Amino acid sequence: MDAGVNSPGLILPLALGFFGRVRHGEERKHALSLLVMGSPMSMDELKKAAAAEALTLVESGMRLGLGTGSTAKIFVDLLAERMKREGLKLIAVPTSEATRQQAEALGIPLTTLDETPELDLAIDGADELDADLNLIKGGGAAHLREKIVELSAKRFVVIADETKQVKTLGKFPLPLEVVPFGLEATKARLTRAIESAGSAGELRLRLKADGSIVKTDGGNIILDAHLGVIKNPAHLAETLDHVTGLVEHGLFIGMAERAYLATREGVRVIKRA
Ligand code: 5RP
Repeated sequence: MDAGVNSPGLILPLALGFFGRVRHGEERKHALSLLVMGSPMSMDELKKAAAAEALTLVESGMRLGLGTGSTAKIFVDLLAERMKREGLKLIAVPTSEATRQQAEALGIPLTTLDETPELDLAIDGADELDADLNLIKGGGAAHLREKIVELSAKRFVVIADETKQVKTLGKFPLPLEVVPFGLEATKARLTRAIESAGSAGELRLRLKADGSIVKTDGGNIILDAHLGVIKNPAHLAETLDHVTGLVEHGLFIGMAERAYLATREGVRVIKRA
């Protein structure tokens, strides 16, 4: 595992509201003083810092996977700005209807995995990540399409603020996308499977604020498993892979190549060994 603080010069773009390549020298000193005098960075500014760093991986001609959620949304905005500014030619596959609509509105050319089954780079947020870059995803109910798209990419990069990094996965409830048919029977099988993998906790049907049931883009529903701690995420993932009625779980094991984690001191890079 390789972790370190990347690009202290990122402070300058943050302070000036400009997100591009990191700058150095006098400008950095200026930026540091701006930061010291300025107000603490908001969560959105941290997300923007991580997204801006990931944007430096994008090159003209790439086939991209675009994630879902508030951090991925910021990345898509920055991507569209950079495409206009630099005339980059890209093609992208969105991981949700929300991202598809956003990208379409911004004029990002879209494709599908049927037309473009292999992608160069996928960028997405996460709900939790551990030191081995195992993830919990699906807080936005998009983890099925996210997993399909991100498994189709040569490189999958996570962008997040540092609050998403945890020692042990599981505080964030694990999203389980299930088919509506036979829900109670599937729930019972899931409970037994989770216990057999050494975890335990309540499975709650995800509801919207108005009390209606959350439906995924694929028309399925979400059970959130409140496990607290997942001692062996790889084993739990493997166990869940065999439960009938479960379409996909939110454990992304061994998929991410690196993560850009925004902290108030700069963007930290975590690379998978
Ligand atoms: C959507 C996801 C998101 O990536 C995850 O929920 C993180 O979102 P945010 O960037 O808003 O914190 O997995 O299904």
